[in-house]
Amino acid sequence: MSTNTIKHVASPLARQTLLDGDLTRPVAGRRPIRILPWLQVVKIGGRSIMDRGAEAILPIVDEIRKLLPEHRLLILTGAGIRARHLYGVGLDLGLPVGSLAPLAASEAGQNGHILAAMLAPEGVSYVEHPTIASQLAIHLTATRAVVGSAFPPYHHHEFPNSRLPIHRADTGAFLLADALGAAGLTIVEDVDGVYTTDPKGPGGEQAQLLSETSVADLAKLQGTLPFDRALLEVMATARNIGHVQVVNGLVPGRLTAALRGEHVGTLIHTGASAA
Ligand SMILES: Nc1ncnc2c1ncn2[C@@H]1O[C@H](COP(=O)(O)OP(=O)(O)O)[C@@H](O)[C@H]1O
Ligand SMILES: [Mg+2]
Repeated sequence: MSTNTIKHVASPLARQTLLDGDLTRPVAGRRPIRILPWLQVVKIGGRSIMDRGAEAILPIVDEIRKLLPEHRLLILTGAGIRARHLYGVGLDLGLPVGSLAPLAASEAGQNGHILAAMLAPEGVSYVEHPTIASQLAIHLTATRAVVGSAFPPYHHHEFPNSRLPIHRADTGAFLLADALGAAGLTIVEDVDGVYTTDPKGPGGEQAQLLSETSVADLAKLQGTLPFDRALLEVMATARNIGHVQVVNGLVPGRLTAALRGEHVGTLIHTGASAA
């Protein structure tokens, strides 16, 4: 006679579909823990800061250097002009979005390497995504800051909704900050914050700075934003990060003030703020 040796695994989700929200909610509906609650995430714009070269990079490097004794930082860089050139060549050749995304991501990484090299005397290094995913705590125990790429590694899995990758550096930075349960996310741009319309575009003289706003209000705004639109979607479903601040990195002291909790740019309240 054969004995039934199947072992039953005790799990509240063992015998049900994961597609039924009513069944999964009692188990999966809880707020996740904050893995690195002391971490400040700073996203540095590719086009707005890095593409300007020494004139913009040296002052921000100086500011970050002075911030190190105060904060432990994950500095994430975006892509700029070189990704735009890659998109241009790639689209001309008919490359799919899944081929373009990793090319653009490689520029975000290059910008990170540049920034990390400038901060190397302070013990700051560039780290790859797998290190961010699994060894960030030990790196930030050994040093005050690390630099990484803000681009999310969707790469060949990028959604084909658009010919250009929709999940770019701002989305990537937010997803990381929220998943880590960081203390905050500051997005560094070359404008004072989010305006009702592009202050440098046609009709820009009518643009009004939004000092405090929400994902819901920004979703109603027609026209362009200084970050990828997909960021609105991920902010709407945020679990930990209650607000994000967009600041002008060309004005010395703004990043420092933002990390000290001062309101010096545009505060955007996410879907997690009410929870
Ligand atoms: N609603 C808006 N508010 C503020 N800036 C905007 C807006 N729409 C477009 N912009 C423009 O976005 C620019 C930043 O471009 P962006 O592509 O976000 O740069 P980065 O690659 O550095 O993130 C700003 O200089 C500004 O001219
Ligand atoms: Mg931007």
